[in-house]
Amino acid sequence: MKDYSINSPTAYSVARSRALSDIPLSKEIADWAMEHVVVRKDNLEAFLPRRVLNVEARYKLIDKVISNQNPTQILELASGLLPRGYLMATKGVTFVETDLPEMMEVKKRMLNELLLKSPPTLFLEKANALNLKELEGACKHFSSKESLIITNEGLLRYLNFEEKTIVAQNVHTLLEKFGGVWITSDITLAKRFTPERLNKIKNNIGMDITPNLFRDLKHAKKFFSDLGFTLKLHPFKEIYSELVSHKGKEIPKKELKYALAWYVAEMRVKK
Ligand SMILES: C[S@@+](CC[C@H](N)C(=O)[O-])C[C@H]1O[C@@H](n2cnc3c(N)ncnc32)[C@H](O)[C@@H]1O
Repeated sequence: MKDYSINSPTAYSVARSRALSDIPLSKEIADWAMEHVVVRKDNLEAFLPRRVLNVEARYKLIDKVISNQNPTQILELASGLLPRGYLMATKGVTFVETDLPEMMEVKKRMLNELLLKSPPTLFLEKANALNLKELEGACKHFSSKESLIITNEGLLRYLNFEEKTIVAQNVHTLLEKFGGVWITSDITLAKRFTPERLNKIKNNIGMDITPNLFRDLKHAKKFFSDLGFTLKLHPFKEIYSELVSHKGKEIPKKELKYALAWYVAEMRVKK
């Protein structure tokens, strides 16, 4: 079995990017991770204003699209150190976070050590997104009478097309059972990555993600449609007025355009 955890350290740099925004708990989480887990030196590339803004936008837009569904139960894949589960569960949503075993252990430790009293509707489960049995196990907390939201951000770019297909099929199976919607920002297009950036990612995590990227939007749409999903795309611009991490910084127009030229997809099982 492939070791998917090689990209787990990327969860720490995204967590630190979020700390430069006003997303609740992000600073506390990033400080904790820096003190207790992160041993590597800073990957400064991750903290360029355009990347920070992009991470802030994807988090906030996913939240907005989720809120529009009046959620009662949510399954998050590859949660890393995201605060969403804790924040939504404190409002009464049944929220199941999943990630690989090691990362879930870190997350549990983090919630304990930050003295965040776990809300009764928050569950942390070890599940590989490619493993349907593990995902189904994590879904034991949900009611089969209510529709389910499945969400993920920053996962699919680390998976090749065969692996993405398995994840999409797993999501499809779960949504067929519960009804509901898949909300993800993982429509990662090749043109958003320069060769230098791809090289840096390769140096950081020892993985070349080039073959994992969608050629263009048409390719991404066809990929998910062929797997039985309808797609509604939300451009990151939808959330622009709520972004703060770029405030007070000189951010060139081109960079701003880069940060916002992405999408959150809202996908449903085709009837
Ligand atoms: C870039 S991080 C993103 C973390 C989080 N979603 C965020 O936005 O902060 C990638 C995450 O994917 C997780 N991951 C990688 N492969 C996975 C798999 N096959 N199943 C579940 N999680 C996986 C890693 O452990 C890591 O937490």
